[in-house]
Amino acid sequence: MSLPLSFNPFAYEMHEDPYPTYARLREEEPCYHNEGMGFWVLSRFDDVLEGYRDWESFTSTRGIALEEVGTASAPSMIGMDPPHQTKLRKLVVRAFNPKRVGRLEPRVRELTTRFLDEIVEEGECDLIERFAALLPSDVISTLIGAPQEAHESLRIWTETMMHREDGVSAIPKAASDASKNLIGYFAELIEAKRKKPADDLVSALAEAELDGRHLSDTEILGFCFLLISGGNETTEKLIANTIHQLSRHVDQRERIVAEPSLIPALVEESLRFRSPTQYMVRTTTIDVERHGRTIPAGEQVVLLIGAANHDPRRFQDPGRFAIDRKISQHLAFGFGVHFCLGARLARLEARVAMEEIHKRLPDYRVDESGVSVVHAGNVAGLATLPIRFTPSQRLAG
Ligand code: HEM
Repeated sequence: MSLPLSFNPFAYEMHEDPYPTYARLREEEPCYHNEGMGFWVLSRFDDVLEGYRDWESFTSTRGIALEEVGTASAPSMIGMDPPHQTKLRKLVVRAFNPKRVGRLEPRVRELTTRFLDEIVEEGECDLIERFAALLPSDVISTLIGAPQEAHESLRIWTETMMHREDGVSAIPKAASDASKNLIGYFAELIEAKRKKPADDLVSALAEAELDGRHLSDTEILGFCFLLISGGNETTEKLIANTIHQLSRHVDQRERIVAEPSLIPALVEESLRFRSPTQYMVRTTTIDVERHGRTIPAGEQVVLLIGAANHDPRRFQDPGRFAIDRKISQHLAFGFGVHFCLGARLARLEARVAMEEIHKRLPDYRVDESGVSVVHAGNVAGLATLPIRFTPSQRLAG
């Protein structure tokens, strides 16, 4: 029997706090079926983990989003299953190994301090507009090898491409126009890197071989899209959510200021507590039994990360934000064959951002009346984060 529970990820708005709904799903209907919209939802930690692990029963090849997928894009490994996905992933995995990501730290710090130096004397700003939205996009543009002068256009096109209207599953026209601009830009970049390779990801992909042949432009384009669409907004949300939570828990912020070595644990708790990616979608390839119900083959299943990361079976007092929580595993970056390739980079960016913000603006306060939320597909989090702080000159004096 189905409970009168209506879970519709297009309609949820973060200011309405989805966590009570998540708790009802998890406890009352752990294998939920939305009959109107035709998808299923798994929300307990173990079920969500198993959904990501068992790619043979839960395929990524029939779409990983609930909404209509835009036409002006390029296929990428996130929408594939092994063995082809494994081969493609191998081509880029090196760029995300500890050594390569570590080499990006000076650049991440340079960008971070540059953006923060522009605001430290102002005493107030929207931290998303002036910082959190800028850093991840510049880092990825650097990684793929786009010249500095293109970074701003790339960021604006990416933001526009990702924007969705609340409650509407269709792709807005501005979003498809922006993705066409991105395709045009990346096509030129690939051509330029084929002619004159440098030490960047697009050059490496242009030289890489797959089954004895070079990658096509479309395949490289797929990687570029995947990186900008997967790595920008998510990291922006992670940074903004972390500051928002710390402003609500001033005692924990003071500990961070006094003891920056706690920052990696802070970042993990933030990822768990407000996971930027709320869910990914899979399609069943066989009938799957869960909690006394059968999900027939060929059905879309939402693997609800946001709910799994608040499962009390796994996390004690999950609704409490606690930087000293010992987290052995959360699902904010997914699990298994598609585990987030950029996880190490996102953690690096968030750590450097937290280190520099707490050095420069240690007494920030969030103006809660100006906080707003955004909902772009499966990514949820803050859209604006107005803060006030003591300007650095006065702080020093
Ligand atoms: C806080 C920030 C981030 C979050 C929460 C996040 C989340 C995720 C999740 C949940 C997945 C799994 C998708 C699935 O199973 O279908 C994923 C995959 C992926 N992410 Fe991230 N991501 C973040 C940052 C980044 C960054 C910075 C990059 C790149 C620069 C990146 C690149 C990727 C790629 C390439 C994949 C696909 C891997 C594959 O299909 O094998 N992500 N991410």
